[in-house]
Amino acid sequence: MYASLTLLSILILASATSAGSDCTGVIQSLNDVASAVQCKTVNIYGFTVPANQGFVLNLLDGTTVNVYGDIEFSDGFTKGPLFTVTGNDITFNGNDHKWNGSGPSYWDGKGGSGGLTKPNPVMSVGITGTFSGVYLLNSPMIAFEIWNGPLIIDGVTVDNREGNYANSRSDGVAAGRNTDGFDVGGDGITIQNCVVINQDDCIAISWGTNITVHNNYCESGHGISLTSSISDTVIENIVISNNTFVDSEQALRIKTSQTTQGSRVSNVVYTHNSASGCTDFGVLITQSYPAALGTPGNGVDISNVTFSGLNNISTTSSAYMVAVNCGVDSCIGPWDWSGLATDGGKVGPNTNCPEISGFSY
Ligand SMILES: *[C@@H]1O[C@H](CO)[C@@H](O)[C@H](O)[C@H]1NC(C)=O
Ligand SMILES: *[C@@H]1O[C@H](CO)[C@@H](O)[C@H](O)[C@H]1NC(C)=O
Ligand SMILES: *[C@@H]1O[C@H](CO)[C@@H](O)[C@H](O)[C@H]1NC(C)=O
Ligand SMILES: *[C@@H]1O[C@H](CO)[C@@H](O)[C@H](O)[C@H]1NC(C)=O
Ligand SMILES: *[C@@H]1O[C@H](CO)[C@@H](O)[C@H](O)[C@H]1NC(C)=O
Repeated sequence: MYASLTLLSILILASATSAGSDCTGVIQSLNDVASAVQCKTVNIYGFTVPANQGFVLNLLDGTTVNVYGDIEFSDGFTKGPLFTVTGNDITFNGNDHKWNGSGPSYWDGKGGSGGLTKPNPVMSVGITGTFSGVYLLNSPMIAFEIWNGPLIIDGVTVDNREGNYANSRSDGVAAGRNTDGFDVGGDGITIQNCVVINQDDCIAISWGTNITVHNNYCESGHGISLTSSISDTVIENIVISNNTFVDSEQALRIKTSQTTQGSRVSNVVYTHNSASGCTDFGVLITQSYPAALGTPGNGVDISNVTFSGLNNISTTSSAYMVAVNCGVDSCIGPWDWSGLATDGGKVGPNTNCPEISGFSY
């Protein structure tokens, strides 16, 4: 799907470059988009995106986008993405305006398995450059899919706090579900200074190299995860630094699915992260995904996982502070965990764990 979107954008770019692009395009409704994206400055004013339509910006290389008003997506039970942006060397200034995903109209406590079709994701970001200052309120399911790089995501908020409460359709459980903040695949991506309050992964990286996740605040979701569930892929050279987790299921997780083959997760550094109130695990490394502590597979190598500086991870008393559930010979040292301090919970299992230095169970 994404490959064809990229092709489409290339075709559109090719047809537009002959016209003068040194102009300012203005968007106040979807009708304005086609002409506005011929310009290298695009100003978006507040408007409502009609039901059953996507807002798609295939931008010229080098475009600057300025958002000057709030955007609302009508609830129309459409497929996502509700918003797609592509282009190279883009500067996207969200200016902290609100993008309203109308999540409460869809939430039923069941996420992807519910009866209602939910638009998913809200935002599909396929640019290189910078993307900043976007405030996304109430995503029906996944908030952001990030699938290109190099890219800096800075100061973006996902506010699904309302999804923590039950609604009339959710049978007493949290109405929001599968509301991942950022699902990431790509090389050279930085996610910094973001806030995510939700009911699933705060940030999940599924493939890519040279990825930095710095200075983010994650509340009430499932923490930051490196998730290897595609065969023959790499997650490598990852720095997770100075993030704060509050009341999340777990803070720091590496999960690989039982059936994935020929993939690897390597050179991961966790530094200066802090967590309080983790309800299930502080740190979880598991190869039995989707189960947390099921029968592990061994088709993904996890190597060179470091905790440096101070990572202060605190859990509730019923949670496991650290659990490792690896397949035979697929978790490979060095694992230098001298920068990990845990408290509050129970000592977790450790299955097929390599030798860990600087930290004892
Ligand atoms: C978000 O949009 C919904 C309609 O879909 C509206 O009822 C709600 O008031 C909006 N919220 C904000 C904060 O703008
Ligand atoms: C990752 O970063 C290293 C060191 O800066 C660089 O040599 C390598 O080409 C980068 N890899 C990718 C895929 O961007
Ligand atoms: C780390 O996070 C704290 C807040 O938790 C902030 O005050 C500090 O400036 C951050 N440090 C860096 C290097 O970003
Ligand atoms: C482990 O990862 C760190 C940080 O990415 C890197 O500097 C180091 O060379 C790696 N060590 C090995 C043995 O791969
Ligand atoms: C870790 O955080 C807890 C609160 O969550 C605090 O009580 C404790 O002093 C911190 N430990 C260190 C070593 O900073």
